[in-house]
Amino acid sequence: MKFSKYGQQFTKPSSLSQIMDDLGDALRSETPVYLLGGGNPARIDKVNEAYLKAYNSLGAGGIGSSAIESITNYSNPQGDAKFIDTLVDFFHRHYDWQLTRDNIALTNGSQNAFFYLFNLFGGQFAADDGETVTKSILLPLAPEYVGYSDVQIDGKHFIAIKPEIEEVTHEGESGFYKYRVDFDALRDLPALKNGEIGAICCSRPTNPTGNVLTDEEIATLVDIAKQYDVPLIIDNAYGEPFPNVIYPNVKLHWDNNTILCFSLSKIGLPGVRTGIVVAHPEVIKAISSMNAVVNLAPTRFGAAVATPLFEDDTLKQLCDDTIKPFYAKNAKRAVDLIKAELGDYPVFIHKPEGAIFLWVWFKDLPITTTELYDRLKAKNTLIVPSEYFYPGLDIEGFPHAYECVRMSIAADEQTLTAGIKVIGEVVRELYDHR
Ligand SMILES: Cc1ncc(COP(=O)(O)O)c(C=O)c1O
Repeated sequence: MKFSKYGQQFTKPSSLSQIMDDLGDALRSETPVYLLGGGNPARIDKVNEAYLKAYNSLGAGGIGSSAIESITNYSNPQGDAKFIDTLVDFFHRHYDWQLTRDNIALTNGSQNAFFYLFNLFGGQFAADDGETVTKSILLPLAPEYVGYSDVQIDGKHFIAIKPEIEEVTHEGESGFYKYRVDFDALRDLPALKNGEIGAICCSRPTNPTGNVLTDEEIATLVDIAKQYDVPLIIDNAYGEPFPNVIYPNVKLHWDNNTILCFSLSKIGLPGVRTGIVVAHPEVIKAISSMNAVVNLAPTRFGAAVATPLFEDDTLKQLCDDTIKPFYAKNAKRAVDLIKAELGDYPVFIHKPEGAIFLWVWFKDLPITTTELYDRLKAKNTLIVPSEYFYPGLDIEGFPHAYECVRMSIAADEQTLTAGIKVIGEVVRELYDHR
């Protein structure tokens, strides 16, 4: 079968398809697999009970109930109107952004939103002089979310900036570091100065590292985006107010030039495939048009389940009181386990500031973490190697990019303990036989 170039972009092996395949295989496997690889959210009973209650109540009003109405009809391409109105009220209660329904669109998961946004703002543009200019998406801080790779149809895709690495302490302990945006390199970027950047994008908290860009870093990115008249896309899949897996006391920024992407996935509902985009009405209109062409309308099931949970802030309460503490506890547990296994080796952990991962740096490891991935997989332990997470950056000559792994902390205690034990054994042997 011959596929078009565009088709081949999707069908060639990709890091994302490997991660998702690993995840599916692990869930089906008969022998225990220590799954520290994928981005599946944790199973938290108290949270799932709230979803079950909301789910059961969908049918409470019988076949004429508004929830049943909503899932038995298409919405308009912008998304389920009742949920959008509920979100407008929700954001009014918690932020002073003065949103209206024209500022919100729903998508089939936020991955779907990134496909739209990167193709709206990256690719070929008509320049004022009639020429064509190809624009990329600027990722100000690599490493960045692997799911951004490969979604663009056209163009040079991404340009990413290498991080500054700062040694920091965490809860009074050493052995941690934090990535910072190298604003000198960013401001010097020829593509930015030459009008070859179509948007700036960052995840905050960042998948894979758990880094949280500071308010100062965000304010600088906001200014640079305005200066070059491009939008700033903030991927808030793990941020506040939901799922609120973010620990530093920072502010969630939105203005008319910012596109904020939310998701219901990391609150524990990845199967309902619901993403929420908050942006200028012109962007919302474009997303609605893309929804119409690609999906006719976004799925309404997630909206139906989530609407009552947003209406009375039940969801926010769950995030604040249950989801956030759950991941904070698991992050601490994972840090303690890694320190116990590898405390005497040159192993550094990115300061855990949020999201559902730990990002661990095996400095001067004699093999790349892609090779480490294979060795761990042979022992039924799955992690994700770091070189996947550099869309838009040439990492040759940057050893750090081959020396880290992303480890999910969403697993149960037994999996986390057993998985990190295997990692400890394999990595110690590698260092000892250097
Ligand atoms: C940073 C980030 N953005 C976006 C997504 C996409 O999530 P979804 O399409 O499930 O909303 C993920 C999923 O892992 C993510 O980690």
